[in-house]
Amino acid sequence: MYPQHVLEEVRLENDIVDVISEYLPLKQKGTSYFGLCPFHNEKTPSFSVSSEKQFYYCFGCGAAGNVFTFVMQMENDTFPEAVQRLADRVHITLPTPQYTAEARLRQEQKQRLFQMHKEAGRFYYKKLHEPVGAEARAYLQKRQMKENIQKKFGIGYAPKDRQALYRHLQQSGFSQQELLQSGLITEKKDGKDYFDRFRNRLMFPILDIQGQVIGFGGRILSQGEPKYLNSPETLLFHKSRNLYGLNFAKNTKTREMILVEGYMDMISLYQAGFRNAVASLGTAFNQEHAKVLKKYADSVIVLYDSDDAGIMAAQRAIGVLKETGFHIKVLQVPDGKDPDEFIRQNGAEAFSALLANAVHYIRFQIQCLKKKYDLNEMSQKVAFTTQAAEILAGVENDIEKAVYAQEISHITGIAQNAIESETKKIQQKQENTFYESAEQKRQKSFQQQHSQKMTASKGILQAQRDILFLCASNVRIYEKMKEVFFAEDFLEPVYQRVYEKIAFLYEKSGTVFPGELINYFQLPQEQKLVAEIFAVVLEHTGLKDMEKALNEEIKRVKMAKLDRLAAEAKSIEQIQQLLTEKRKADSLYITITDG
Ligand code: GTP
Ligand code: MN
Repeated sequence: MYPQHVLEEVRLENDIVDVISEYLPLKQKGTSYFGLCPFHNEKTPSFSVSSEKQFYYCFGCGAAGNVFTFVMQMENDTFPEAVQRLADRVHITLPTPQYTAEARLRQEQKQRLFQMHKEAGRFYYKKLHEPVGAEARAYLQKRQMKENIQKKFGIGYAPKDRQALYRHLQQSGFSQQELLQSGLITEKKDGKDYFDRFRNRLMFPILDIQGQVIGFGGRILSQGEPKYLNSPETLLFHKSRNLYGLNFAKNTKTREMILVEGYMDMISLYQAGFRNAVASLGTAFNQEHAKVLKKYADSVIVLYDSDDAGIMAAQRAIGVLKETGFHIKVLQVPDGKDPDEFIRQNGAEAFSALLANAVHYIRFQIQCLKKKYDLNEMSQKVAFTTQAAEILAGVENDIEKAVYAQEISHITGIAQNAIESETKKIQQKQENTFYESAEQKRQKSFQQQHSQKMTASKGILQAQRDILFLCASNVRIYEKMKEVFFAEDFLEPVYQRVYEKIAFLYEKSGTVFPGELINYFQLPQEQKLVAEIFAVVLEHTGLKDMEKALNEEIKRVKMAKLDRLAAEAKSIEQIQQLLTEKRKADSLYITITDG
């Protein structure tokens, strides 16, 4: 969307070391800088930044990229947002973005879908207040949802009539194709009959962060399956990324969020004056949710149902939140109620008191663990304490650690210092692996990448990366390579483009900077594939060894590609042709050691 020279200007004005230093402290070591990786939890630095390559790479988790991908990951920005942010940082005014025809079409489709969802939301809302909505209104009354709240959340009703919305949207001028794209209308198998996805359900519009309707959740009015039906994945709606209620909760000043399981829980909390609740939409809370949430909060109270399923879901959410660096507390509603029921029965003040009793997640985990053991039995008591020490080893703060060690001691009767020394032992074991030098980590990652156990397809992927890495690092290797190896020999379309860009960059400037190369790829999944090329550390004892390895990889990639083509071949002639090419590939050898 921006011309390449503009992207390059923004990138070159934003030195990667300066930018990253604004997020985390870096220490210089030779030509590289090191710091604690912001993308995973660690105690010793594995995160390296190269000023020369304008590139970062983490030996611990493999995160890699240039200044744009760094900002995208840290700020959860899209590529254009990251470009804008970095342009602002160095006071560059960006030109009006130029969209490709394809992007423009997509944008237009999205606009139409937004309009349609808004129209559908209005339709459902209107139906709720017509005579057909009587049962739904009674249901809302039973659940004590006030009218101003119903309005605020745009609650509606989808009638029983199987084509009510279909007809309405058609009359509003939406095409058949648009209707199907929205997921609100489904098609019978024969393609001749259409009907509404949501029928006889209470409708909850799902809003994005800007407050635009992107989908719906529909609750059944009586008994039946499924209890909640959601919009399918569409151009607008991605359930693994959207948190219900975030458009309201984001306005909270506290940077603390309450995470609940259900739509109704979120709304009840809001109605009772707790305006910082969000719900994950009928799907497990995941890393993408956590990243989105991180923009608005540092601390999360996990408030899930207290049944077994709820506890398991809470444990999983804790793991996800921990990785994203949240401060985490857990709250359980007594007597197996969910938050919505509790508030309805006991009121806002009682809930407020409950909230004040949310416990640090460590205590919650110890409580859960305790339920699994019979502490009257000596052997189980020991097993419990050992497991508990494992949990404690994850606590950073020594004072907190002592508090929980004391609690465990209290529960088990085992001396506090025994628990603490067990914890220390576990911690030391964990740290030993952290304390591996960067060199050891490099070795290990190299060995993993090249181990025999690697699956064949993973080996091919790595071989393609190695080839590209060597081509990008050394123009002489590239010059030799281009005689025998062509873009279409790569199996990955992205890597075909990388190879072409390498050619282009050599022509343009005589060098390939990884940070520049990656700029030609703007989708996160593409950027990841490109960054991974430079995340390898090839270790060859000598040039001759490298040459041999490179030739083997060339051969393997070519063969794999020809095999794939053979599998798709449509005629005998084609297969014979491919066999000839295989024989040619087999006798291929390029030398890079001579002049
Ligand atoms: P109410 O019975 O209306 O109070 O719902 P709840 O919010 O208490 O629901 P429950 O505890 O049964 O489930 C929690 C959340 O899981 C819901 O809000 C939904 O987001 C989701 N969920 C529950 N049942 C279904 C289902 O049948 N399908 C889907 N997709 N999601 C569901
Ligand atoms: Mn409920």
